[in-house]
Amino acid sequence: MQAPTMFDPQRIAADTYTLPAYLPVPGAGLLPVNAFLIRAAQPMLIDTGLAALGADFIDRLSQLIDPADLAWIYLTHTDPDHLGNLAELMALAPRAHLVTTFLGMGKLGLLQFPLNRVYLLNPGQRLDLGDRTVLALRPPVFDAPETTGLFDPDNRILFSSDCFGALMQQPVETAQSIHPDALRDGLINWTMVDAPWLPLVEASALNRAIAPLRQLQPQVILSSHLPPAWGLTDRLIDYLQLARLATPTPGPDQQALEQMMAIAA
Ligand SMILES: [Fe+2]
Ligand SMILES: [Fe+2]
Repeated sequence: MQAPTMFDPQRIAADTYTLPAYLPVPGAGLLPVNAFLIRAAQPMLIDTGLAALGADFIDRLSQLIDPADLAWIYLTHTDPDHLGNLAELMALAPRAHLVTTFLGMGKLGLLQFPLNRVYLLNPGQRLDLGDRTVLALRPPVFDAPETTGLFDPDNRILFSSDCFGALMQQPVETAQSIHPDALRDGLINWTMVDAPWLPLVEASALNRAIAPLRQLQPQVILSSHLPPAWGLTDRLIDYLQLARLATPTPGPDQQALEQMMAIAA
C-alpha cells in the first residue's frame, strides 16, 4: 500500500459501523485510521477520517447515512487524523453539533465554527442519543489533553480514540486475526510513538487509569488505530501494561520523510 486507502464500512453491531482506512507509515507498516458511525435515533459520527481520503470518506459514509441526517459529530481529539474532513462534514450536516471539550474547542478555534454548533462533553458526562445514552471517558493513554473516548453501554462498545492502537503489516478485518505476538509488538510500537510518556508512569497510576475500563467490561474495543477487537479487552490491557516497560523510539527520520514525500507526490 503506497497511499492512504479506504475500505468498505464494517458492521460492528446492529447500528454501529467502522469506516476503516489505512495509512502507510514508511519503515513501520500500516496504521489503521478508523472513524465510526452510531446510527442511533440521533446519529453520531465519531471522528472524520483523513483529509487525504476526502471524497472517498464522504462516499463511504454516505453508503450508511445521508450526512445531512447526522445529529452529532464527535471528535475524540483534534489531531489531523481525526478531524480530516470535519469542516466539510459540518457543512454537509447543518443540524449536527460538534462534540468536544473546552480545550478541543479552543484548539479548533481557527476553524471558526459558531459556538452554537459546539457541544462540550467532559469525561464522566453522558450524552443522550435519543435511544441510548453514551458515556464520555478519558482513555488511559492519549496524545492530546482534550482526548475523550466513548462507551456505548447498550452494545458494550468502547471507542478508545488513540488508545489500544497498533502498527500493522497488512489490513485485516478484526484484531483477533492478527497473530498475538504481532498485535503485542504493534501495540507497544504505536504506544511508544503516540504516548512516549507512558514509561514515566508508575504501574499503580496506570492501573488506576485502567480500572474504570475493567469495570465497564467492553465486549468490543473500537480504537481509532486498530481493527475492531472483540473479546480482547484483557489482552489489550496486558499489552498496554507491557508498553509501560518499553523504551520510546524516535520517530521517522529525514530519510523516511523523503520516502513519505515521494509517496505523496
Ligand atoms: Fe492522536
Ligand atoms: Fe490518532
